Amino acid sequence: MKILVKKSTPLSGEIKACGSKNAALPIMAATLLCGGKCTLTDIPELADTINMKNIMRELGCKISGDCFDSSCVYSTSAPYEWVKKLRGSFLLAAPLLARLGRAQIPLPGGCPIGTRPIDLHLKGFSALGAEVDRYHGVVDLKCKKLKGGKIYLDFPSVGATENLIMAAVLADGETLIENAAAEPEVVDLCEFLQKQGAVIEGVGGNTIRIEGVSSLSGTEHRIIPDRIEAGTYITAFAITHGKGRVKNVRVEHQKPLAAKLTEMGVKVSEDNGDFLIDARGDIYSSNIKTLPYPGFPTDMQAQITSLLSVANGTGMVVETVFENRFLHIGELTRMGAMIRMDGRTSVIEGVKRLTGAKVEAHDLRGGAALALAGLVADGETEISDAWHIARGYENFCEKMQGAGANICIVNE
Ligand code: EPZ
Repeated sequence: MKILVKKSTPLSGEIKACGSKNAALPIMAATLLCGGKCTLTDIPELADTINMKNIMRELGCKISGDCFDSSCVYSTSAPYEWVKKLRGSFLLAAPLLARLGRAQIPLPGGCPIGTRPIDLHLKGFSALGAEVDRYHGVVDLKCKKLKGGKIYLDFPSVGATENLIMAAVLADGETLIENAAAEPEVVDLCEFLQKQGAVIEGVGGNTIRIEGVSSLSGTEHRIIPDRIEAGTYITAFAITHGKGRVKNVRVEHQKPLAAKLTEMGVKVSEDNGDFLIDARGDIYSSNIKTLPYPGFPTDMQAQITSLLSVANGTGMVVETVFENRFLHIGELTRMGAMIRMDGRTSVIEGVKRLTGAKVEAHDLRGGAALALAGLVADGETEISDAWHIARGYENFCEKMQGAGANICIVNE
């Protein structure tokens, strides 16, 4: 799949964000915990969420529309051909282990942005009494009844925090997770679990205490807005010196991006829950370090790099979360960006002009960043392997076209 982007006029009007992919994936997995029916609304229609539903159906879950019925889940083994397409499927490990006493999940493998290890997940499962085996590319977890325990995460891993909370809610006794991730998607999962009857304290902080309960019941839940999708469109208005609004946003989740954009000369504000952007003036460089929430999100690093590529001055970006999240730099350089790399630091000298080129998406956020750069590059930018973008953005081209972007999918 290819996307063609041509130099566009400043974006205007409005773009509406969808529900969060990274909240939907753990919450869909968590519906397996209750053995009943859950109704989830605002799940985005993406390759990742479609694959997650396919895997859950293979396990015996009945899914139709917004309704998830896990009363007949019978299999504890996720199929490799689905798992290799979706790293997030490892989030099924905890619900299967907690509910059925076993989980056989193929190792998710790495991806372009890093090796993506799962050692923190496995260490946590062991701390809760699970037997952990790894053979033939599969992680095999067994435990008749998990017991509460104390876990310290070496890194505030989002996925490990989510998996271990889901394991602890049905364990015997109390679990303490220290140095836990505090991302909004973790908070949304906890709120969903609390609606099912889970006892969780410290939600939104880095120390979470869970009192295990004997069972959970079905409930309904609306997925929070996708802060990274929204941030990507906010940056699209900024890079084109546009003026407009992004709807369906939790403004408090945009604080790190809003602070940086303000520093760079972009006027941002809130209007009745919408995020307003006015970037008609000059845009100046800034220095950014990605950090776990509430720091600047790693998932916005590529997109802000595109903006810095055409800002006045020289900016610096330090990526502290993933070891290899700079694959978009080589492609931006092909478009005329002036970026020097030194380990996990990139130094970006703003240029007056980018030119369109044939470039390649290597991951979903890097692909989106190339599209943003294409909006201001002279001529045409053809992004190959654009299926990466479709993994994280529903109707990406249509939404951007709605704000005046010259962008479309090229049928090969
Ligand atoms: C989640 O991935 C998100 N994915 C990622 O979004 C996001 O970039 C990441 O959190 C950080 O915010 C989903 O929620 C589906 P981590 P996750 O565990 O959970 C190391 C996107 O663009 N680590 O917080 O896999 C790991 O190597 C995607 O939508 C271990 O060392 O991220 C990384 O360096 C990309 N051992 C760091 O922690 C472990 O056991 C952060 O990873 C687990 C992680």
